[in-house]
Amino acid sequence: MGFLHSSAMFPVFLIFLFSFSWPITSSANSHEDFLRCLSSSLSSNDSSSISRLVYTQRSSNYTSVLESTIHNSRFITPTSHRPSVIVTPLHVSHVQATIRCSKKHGLQLRTRSGGHDFEGVSYVSEWEAPFVIVDLANLRSIDVDVENEVSWVQSGAIMGELYYAIAQKSRTLAFPGALCHGVAFGGFISSGGYGLLFRKYGLAADNVVDAEFLDVKGRILSRKSMGEDLFWAIRGGGGGSFGITLSWKVKLIRVPEMVTVFSTSRTLEQNATGLLHRWQYITNQFPDGMFPSITLTTTNTTVDDRNRTVVATFNTVYLGGANELVPLMQNVFPELESPPKIATK
Ligand SMILES: Cc1cc2nc3c(=O)[nH]c(=O)nc-3n(C[C@H](O)[C@H](O)[C@H](O)COP(=O)(O)OP(=O)(O)OC[C@H]3O[C@@H](n4cnc5c(N)ncnc54)[C@H](O)[C@@H]3O)c2cc1C
Ligand SMILES: *[C@@H]1O[C@H](CO)[C@@H](O)[C@H](O)[C@H]1NC(C)=O
Ligand SMILES: *[C@@H]1O[C@H](CO)[C@@H](O)[C@H](O)[C@H]1NC(C)=O
Ligand SMILES: *[C@@H]1O[C@H](CO)[C@@H](O)[C@H](O)[C@H]1NC(C)=O
Ligand SMILES: *[C@@H]1O[C@H](CO)[C@@H](O)[C@H](O)[C@H]1NC(C)=O
Ligand SMILES: *[C@@H]1O[C@H](CO)[C@@H](O)[C@H](O)[C@H]1NC(C)=O
Repeated sequence: MGFLHSSAMFPVFLIFLFSFSWPITSSANSHEDFLRCLSSSLSSNDSSSISRLVYTQRSSNYTSVLESTIHNSRFITPTSHRPSVIVTPLHVSHVQATIRCSKKHGLQLRTRSGGHDFEGVSYVSEWEAPFVIVDLANLRSIDVDVENEVSWVQSGAIMGELYYAIAQKSRTLAFPGALCHGVAFGGFISSGGYGLLFRKYGLAADNVVDAEFLDVKGRILSRKSMGEDLFWAIRGGGGGSFGITLSWKVKLIRVPEMVTVFSTSRTLEQNATGLLHRWQYITNQFPDGMFPSITLTTTNTTVDDRNRTVVATFNTVYLGGANELVPLMQNVFPELESPPKIATK
C-alpha cells in the first residue's frame, strides 16, 4: 500500500512544489527576518513563551527537538541539511504565523506530525534553500464523543493515543487506524492509512468526516469552506501537498467487545513455503472482519550459518470470539494444523 501511494503521489508532488515554493531569497538573514516576523505576530502571552515555541540552531534544545521524531537515522548525518528554525506551535495562531512569515521571508516550510515519513520529507530538505519545520507534536488533543460515535483528533496525536482515549470511554468503539501505534494522524490520514480493520472498514481516510485545514495563506478552512474536491485530496493525496491539516473529525466504528488474535510460526523445515503458497489462495475466503498477515524473518543466523532458516509467522486479528475463529480456520486452512496459540482479549 505504501508503495502504491508513493507512485500515486508523483503528480501531487508537483502541486506541492507549486504551492509551497515561495521565492527563494539568498539572504543569509532571511531566518532572522522570519523570527522577527514571528515574534511580532504572536500575542504578548505567546512572546513570553517563545523559547518553548521557536528553536534556532543556536538553541540548546534544537537538536533534541529536531531528532525527537526522526525515525530514520539515515537522515541525521553530520552533512544533513538542517532546518534554520523549528516551530512547535501550541495554538492554531502559531501555525498561521509560521505559514505567513515563512512565505513572506522566502523560507521553505516542512510540516511534521509524527516524523514517520519513509523519505524523511517532513524534516529534511535536499535543497540548499533554508527551511523551517513546523512540528505539530504539541497539538495532539483528542476529543472522543461516544454518543455520536465521532472523535476530533489533532494531527500531532499518534494512533496509540486515540486507541487509548477510545478505550477509556468505550469497549465497543474503535477507529480503523495504523498497525503501528507511533504513526501520527497528520501524515497518516494525508496518505490514506490502512490497518487491522482495513478489510471491513476501508482506509482511515474513508472514515474522516471533517477537518480543520490551513491553506497557503494561513486561512482556516473546514470541509464546508474548502469544498469537496480539496477535502477529497487531503485524505490520501499525500502529506505536505496542499497545506496543513490541524485536526480531523473521524467516525468511530462498532466492534464486538471480544476480539481474537492468533500467531503461529513455521520454519522452512516445517513447510513454511507450502503453507505460504496455499495461504494466498484461501485468504479471500476469510470474512471481512478478519485481518490475516504474514511476516517473514530469518532466524538462527548467529549460531552457525548452516542453522539459518526462514520463519513464516501467520498473524490474524478477528472481530469475534475464538469459538467462531477456530472452526473457521479448521475448515478453510486445516493445513495450519496443530492448534495455533490463541489469545482472546
Ligand atoms: C514504523 C512505521 C510503521 C508504519 N505503519 C503504517 C501502517 O500500519 N499503516 C499505514 O497506512 N502507514 C504506516 N506507515 C506509514 C505512515 O502512515 C506514513 O509514513 C505517514 O505519512 C506518517 O505520518 P507521520 O505524521 O507520522 O509522519 P511525518 O513524517 O510527520 O509526515 C509525513 C508526511 O505528511 C506530511 N504531514 C505531516 N503532518 C501533516 C499535516 N498535519 N498536514 C499536512 N501534511 C502533513 C509531512 O510533511 C510529510 O510529507 C508506517 C510508517 C512507519 C515508519
Ligand atoms: C494571557 O494569559 C493570561 C493568564 O494566563 C490570560 O488570563 C489571558 O487571557 C491571556 N491573554 C491572551 C491574549 O491570550
Ligand atoms: C530543554 O530540554 C530540557 C529537557 O527535555 C527541558 O527540561 C527544558 O525545559 C528545555 N528547555 C527549553 C528552553 O525548551
Ligand atoms: C506443505 O503444505 C502444502 C500446502 O498445504 C501441502 O500441499 C504439502 O503437502 C505440504 N508438504 C509437506 C511435506 O507437508
Ligand atoms: C535455532 O537454534 C536453536 C538451538 O541453538 C534450536 O533449539 C531452535 O529450534 C532453532 N530454531 C529454529 C526456528 O530452527
Ligand atoms: C547447526 O548446524 C550444524 C551443521 O549442520 C549441526 O551439526 C548442528 O547440530 C546444528 N545445531 C543446531 C542447534 O541445530
